[in-house]
Amino acid sequence: MEKVMTKPPKAAQPEVSMSAMDAIYHRRSVRDYAPRTIGQAVIRTLLDAAVHAPTAMHEEPCSFAVIQDKNLLNRLSDSVKERVRNEARASDSPQAKHSLDLVNKPDFHVFYNAGTLIIIYSTFQGPFVAADCWLAAENLMLAACAKGLGTCVIGFAVSALNTLEWKAELKIPPEMTAIAPIIVGVPAGETPPVPRKRPEIVTWK
Ligand SMILES: Cc1cc2nc3c(=O)[nH]c(=O)nc-3n(C[C@H](O)[C@H](O)[C@H](O)COP(=O)(O)O)c2cc1C
Repeated sequence: MEKVMTKPPKAAQPEVSMSAMDAIYHRRSVRDYAPRTIGQAVIRTLLDAAVHAPTAMHEEPCSFAVIQDKNLLNRLSDSVKERVRNEARASDSPQAKHSLDLVNKPDFHVFYNAGTLIIIYSTFQGPFVAADCWLAAENLMLAACAKGLGTCVIGFAVSALNTLEWKAELKIPPEMTAIAPIIVGVPAGETPPVPRKRPEIVTWK
């Protein structure tokens, strides 16, 4: 694939001025979205931020899918819920019970009615491919935060996205693996911060 040097285009400059530290501390997993569509230019800015993440051996293994078709997102949400139900029934772990309770709520939507789902895929194999994709995911989420947008990783969706049925439906080559599904949208309100453990330092010599 052709390689290009990219600088953020003028239109891609964040409207909200935010330092890297501000974005790190202000990013939240947003689970309530206003019914507004994000334009192509903004999405391209986020994808460009994603590919500026470091990758092992500069392999650049990430590919992206953008889903904004509401009907498709609803069907994917239903399919994910069905899979979560089936997987949870086969397990008696507390996490499975929690997942089951969640997906059985009548109005639960796996994508929280966000208008955009970006999925990071890869065909590459190797010990750092998942790390590369997750670093790209975090870049994307921080860039979205800097532009006043909300995001949330939807780990729930990975298993359904990796079925041949959903790859065929989304026109994803069968050899690609879905790694990081991320919803993006305009937050409907404020999301309070989730407390963090203090960094556990096991050694400092
Ligand atoms: C790998 C991964 C998978 C996640 N999957 C889900 C998910 O399926 N649904 C969801 O609502 N949040 C999901 N989250 C979001 C976490 O619940 C969230 O990051 C955590 O509660 C901390 O909140 P914060 O992101 O607002 O700081 C996921 C996060 C990660 C990193």
